[in-house]
Amino acid sequence: MADGVFDAVRTVLAIREYRDTKVGDDLIERIVEAARLTASSMNRQPWHFVVVRDRDHLRELGTLVATGPYIAQASFAVVAAYETDSIFGVSDLSRAIQSMVLTAWDEGVGSNWTGFGGLDAVRKHVGLGDGYTVLAVVPFGYPAKAVGLGRKNRKPLGEVASAEQAGTAFE
Ligand SMILES: Cc1cc2nc3c(=O)[nH]c(=O)nc-3n(C[C@H](O)[C@H](O)[C@H](O)COP(=O)(O)O)c2cc1C
Repeated sequence: MADGVFDAVRTVLAIREYRDTKVGDDLIERIVEAARLTASSMNRQPWHFVVVRDRDHLRELGTLVATGPYIAQASFAVVAAYETDSIFGVSDLSRAIQSMVLTAWDEGVGSNWTGFGGLDAVRKHVGLGDGYTVLAVVPFGYPAKAVGLGRKNRKPLGEVASAEQAGTAFE
């Protein structure tokens, strides 16, 4: 069995420092296409993705997002928003964000989810109407430092998974 997808999941890390090297437009398109192709509840696709490449625009996003000053150094960022009246918006859009993160990582491009503060200002800044809620701004870029692929700090499987009934050892 090919383990490309699992390898991407196993090795992907949150990347917060980026090289100056630009991510090419073809690859940016592929990353956003991965979001578009993602499944959503009832196939409603209740989302919109604003791709930001302009350096000044990226700097402004870096000042607006409380947890994401490093957006300013990214090659590009995607403002990911869902239709506020969709009860599936958060689930659907989270999957689409993960599609972008993994597609980028498979091509050597790092990213991270930033948000939790300043996102309504981001919405207005990128011209999205008040029918949308910004869930995350995801900066992308080639990692500045060598990354320890797959060096993850995660709870052991036995702690987070059970067999048949919660509390029964899975392994
Ligand atoms: C839903 C979600 C929200 C996150 N929000 C932030 C954030 O606002 N700022 C940040 O620096 N990292 C954020 N992260 C990155 C996590 O902190 C990071 O993935 C986690 O610490 C594990 O690190 P690793 O992915 O490098 O193994 C977020 C990750 C997820 C999945």
